[in-house]
Amino acid sequence: MTEHFLQDPECKVICFDNFDDYYNPLVKKRNIEPFASYPNFTLIKGDIRDRPFLKKIMIDIDYIFHEAAQAGVRISVDDPIKPHEVNATGTLNLLETAKDADVKKIINASSSSVYGKMKYLPFDEAHPTEPVSPYGISKLMAEHYCRVFQELYDLKTVSLRYFTVYGPRMRPDLAIHIFMHRALHNEPITIFGDGTKSRDFTYMQDIVEANIMAMKKGFGEYNIGGGYNITVQQLAEKIIAVARSTSKITYEKAVKGDAEHTSANIKKAEKELGWIPKITIDEGLEIYKKWIQQYQL
Ligand SMILES: NC(=O)c1ccc[n+]([C@@H]2O[C@H](COP(=O)([O-])OP(=O)(O)OC[C@H]3O[C@@H](n4cnc5c(N)ncnc54)[C@H](O)[C@@H]3O)[C@@H](O)[C@H]2O)c1
Repeated sequence: MTEHFLQDPECKVICFDNFDDYYNPLVKKRNIEPFASYPNFTLIKGDIRDRPFLKKIMIDIDYIFHEAAQAGVRISVDDPIKPHEVNATGTLNLLETAKDADVKKIINASSSSVYGKMKYLPFDEAHPTEPVSPYGISKLMAEHYCRVFQELYDLKTVSLRYFTVYGPRMRPDLAIHIFMHRALHNEPITIFGDGTKSRDFTYMQDIVEANIMAMKKGFGEYNIGGGYNITVQQLAEKIIAVARSTSKITYEKAVKGDAEHTSANIKKAEKELGWIPKITIDEGLEIYKKWIQQYQL
């Protein structure tokens, strides 16, 4: 998003982040380094749990793309408090501050993790929400706060339920990054479980486009997914092929809190936002391989 809006000199872009050490903050700094030279870019180090600070900086802001979160299903199983404080209370702080500051709209990054227990596939937005991890609960609470702040206080909001996002600048603790990195080094690739879990993977640029469209219209919740799902086994095999690797696949015990399957019905986003994903998993993996090689990650 930052990259997109910086191209328009009329837009002033503020990047707000606390550089949390959930993963190496140097990765985050490297990701935003190219933006520093833009005159319309400002970096503010701050924490969404700090409401007085949010209040101080919430001046002349039209749109908020709310991506800040304690991400990660697995870590939330070990420490359920922090995801609640950052994702639920942090979002509430943001909404509470924005409603008094004439913000035009908050585009909230939500997650397929809000669905949890699968009743049918693909998930549409009417599917019951019964999260199976503290992370999923915290993201669901954030969605509810967004909806209620529009209904009660007229602060426009929309929540985009991302389905596993990948691509340049992605989180390094996610399977696609780890698998690609290992494949490019011909190291073994470990799958947690037997590889039959499946995911709907969404390419980063498609996520950016969904956010831009949701800035202009839409209210409530929208699935933002690639629109196809593949098993983790198929993913590993695709990555080995893309990387032309000799890596072997090994298996370890499945991890608690991980959903069995995710698959997005994206008709609502198509109909109401005019959004459709453009990048297939094969195209996305090729681009991501080049990115990793370019930056020697
Ligand atoms: N990556 C995915 O597959 C995926 C899937 C579904 C939803 N999401 C959502 O997308 C958003 C971005 O996720 P990501 O995967 O890029 O994760 P990420 O960890 O790379 O990005 C989150 C950012 O929030 C910052 N942050 C954390 N706590 C903060 C706080 N208290 N105050 C200010 N900043 C804070 C982090 O430093 C980090 O830069 C999150 O809201 C996440 O829940 C991601």
